[in-house]
Amino acid sequence: MIFNNSNPFDTIQQIAGGYCLARCLHAIADFGVADVLNGEPKTAEEVASATQTNPGALRRAVRLLSAYGIFEINDNKISHTPASQLLRKDHPQSMRGFTRMFSLPINWKAYEDFNEAIRTGEPNVEKVYTGGFWKYFGDHKQESAIFNEAMADKANAQLYGIMSSYDFSNFKTIGDIGGGRGHLLQAVLHSTSGAQGVLFDLPHVIEDARKMASDRLTLQAGDFFKDSLPACDAYLVMEIIHDWPDAESIDILRAIRKSAPPQAKLLLIESIIPDSPDPDWSKMLDIHMLTLLGGKQRTTKEFEALLTEAGFALTQEIDCQVGISILEASVV
Ligand SMILES: C[S@@+](CC[C@H](N)C(=O)[O-])C[C@H]1O[C@@H](n2cnc3c(N)ncnc32)[C@H](O)[C@@H]1O
Repeated sequence: MIFNNSNPFDTIQQIAGGYCLARCLHAIADFGVADVLNGEPKTAEEVASATQTNPGALRRAVRLLSAYGIFEINDNKISHTPASQLLRKDHPQSMRGFTRMFSLPINWKAYEDFNEAIRTGEPNVEKVYTGGFWKYFGDHKQESAIFNEAMADKANAQLYGIMSSYDFSNFKTIGDIGGGRGHLLQAVLHSTSGAQGVLFDLPHVIEDARKMASDRLTLQAGDFFKDSLPACDAYLVMEIIHDWPDAESIDILRAIRKSAPPQAKLLLIESIIPDSPDPDWSKMLDIHMLTLLGGKQRTTKEFEALLTEAGFALTQEIDCQVGISILEASVV
């Protein structure tokens, strides 16, 4: 959001009502407005007719978003900006699925009673859906597809930074634990000549990822709290630990430790809470973790403590310069 820091009244006003900005973005992504523009400026009437929306309401939502650099309105025509292009389904760095995930009923409803999360320190999601977040996606195929697409979207935006920050070429077998549709694992396998990959995730996610299977990529459905994990030289664990409280995080790391050969490397890939007091996506993600999952974003020191507890030693921290870092650890 754009704040006038010299005006505290405006700061409070903008943040207190700020969810309407997010809701406009969600709706515009749901209705596929960015795809309809197709590189060509169009009037709100033309876009509304193609998306079966109300032209006046659509124009007002786009006017608000354009104040933040998402679309432009000139001569009564709506056109793309670099940010609005990211809402296109066919953009190579598309963030449409990621945007739509934030408007899924489970996310939105969990925030209805947010004060309770602050009062208790516990997530609200159990009240919204018995069994919680992952059970919800296991039971709702369409929503699960949006969630998995969202994970691929956000990872695609980060892949370049990850791939250019770490040399994966020495590994022969690489496991991606909770790897979603396998977007990261595929990119890593592509960068190595002969490594084999194992994608491990819950059964409904592995079902969604079935097209990824190849002679180099094996799919393994399971639960990292119950089932044994594959033996690999390297374990990719991207944005998994942030989903869980400390006790469960240690259980996941110990499960990896149990299957890991002595020379294995563990690569935690996470947004680290920085020392700086400035705005940072990790601080917002941290509140989503509190509300939806009972997890948290952590500082490097907090990750190191979990690793030590689970039998690993932190060997390197690499900032991939895309809002995410690799914490490399060895088996102790
Ligand atoms: C936040 S997503 C991260 C996906 C992927 N690693 C990425 O960063 O794009 C968390 C993943 O953990 C998986 N997951 C949750 N609980 C699990 C469990 N008990 N066993 C295995 N995978 C699980 C989810 O299905 C989901 O794919």
